[in-house]
Amino acid sequence: MPESLVGPWAKDKLDRLDKYLNAYTTIMRKQSWCSGFAYVDAFAGPGRHEVRHKEGTQRLQNLLFSVATFSQQDEGQSKFIEGSPRIALEIKFPFSWYVFIEKHPARVADLQYLQKEYRETRNIVVRQSDCNGYLLEKLVHNPKIDWASWRAVVFLDPFGMQVPWSTLAALGQTKAIEVFLNFPVGMAIQRLLLRAGQFTAKQREKLDTYFGSPDWYDVLYPVKPNLFGASTVKVEESGQALLNWYRKRLQKAFGHASKAALIRNTKGGHLYYLLLATPKKKGLEIADDILSAGETAE
Ligand SMILES: C[S@@+](CC[C@H](N)C(=O)[O-])C[C@H]1O[C@@H](n2cnc3c(N)ncnc32)[C@H](O)[C@@H]1O
Repeated sequence: MPESLVGPWAKDKLDRLDKYLNAYTTIMRKQSWCSGFAYVDAFAGPGRHEVRHKEGTQRLQNLLFSVATFSQQDEGQSKFIEGSPRIALEIKFPFSWYVFIEKHPARVADLQYLQKEYRETRNIVVRQSDCNGYLLEKLVHNPKIDWASWRAVVFLDPFGMQVPWSTLAALGQTKAIEVFLNFPVGMAIQRLLLRAGQFTAKQREKLDTYFGSPDWYDVLYPVKPNLFGASTVKVEESGQALLNWYRKRLQKAFGHASKAALIRNTKGGHLYYLLLATPKKKGLEIADDILSAGETAE
């Protein structure tokens, strides 16, 4: 029984991840100085998802029409897709280690099953945990990992604002970790950023923690003079404005931040941006190429 339902756009995200991971290990396996390179899926999910069809119409059609008709409509569309852990396990040249972190117990059980399935060929660690604590303690500050000779790609694929800036800053400080991340600007963040720009202290604190700075407010709500003094008005294209600002912060923390691919839902709504933060120029060039197909932000 599948553990998770995703929209059809998840395939776009996973195809781009697949391309980047393939390029990464193709290069890293030739680096004789490198002790090893790990893939850390911090929001791993169950490893396989059912693709949600529009408002259940496919299911209804399946009842009303013959199987043949349904198959024809469904042609070229797979009902299930492999999630990011399986994508990473299946690349041509594997990582030295795979770490799958997931909070939800049933999904952890699925990941443990995956671990057994690949036990002969892949080194896999599965952890049920909040990823932020794990990333700091067991990855960034783990005394057994020498970041002078180890490398890692961390995939951050949250539904919402579960990754505070402090986690990204710590990952960037290693100068050895790259982060392929989902910046959930359309999904989670915009819902909090109301037009009027009025926030409670608690709301502000949540956003400050996420962005690692209070400056998001000035980016989104510039003060405009008017007849009666001044007022704050939310900028047009606020998602893009926020992305540009956040990317600059990633550039400072990691060295480079790639172009960002905009992932939309089937109605055209903005869901999130995908981008890479990396200390390596080569990583940037590859990610720019992979993420610039389709709609991007420079
Ligand atoms: C968008 S899904 C991940 C999908 C997966 N990356 C893929 O592409 O197949 C997000 C997952 O993160 C898990 N999750 C949510 N908060 C978490 C946290 N703080 N630490 C670790 N996992 C978390 C959820 O249970 C969910 O399975």
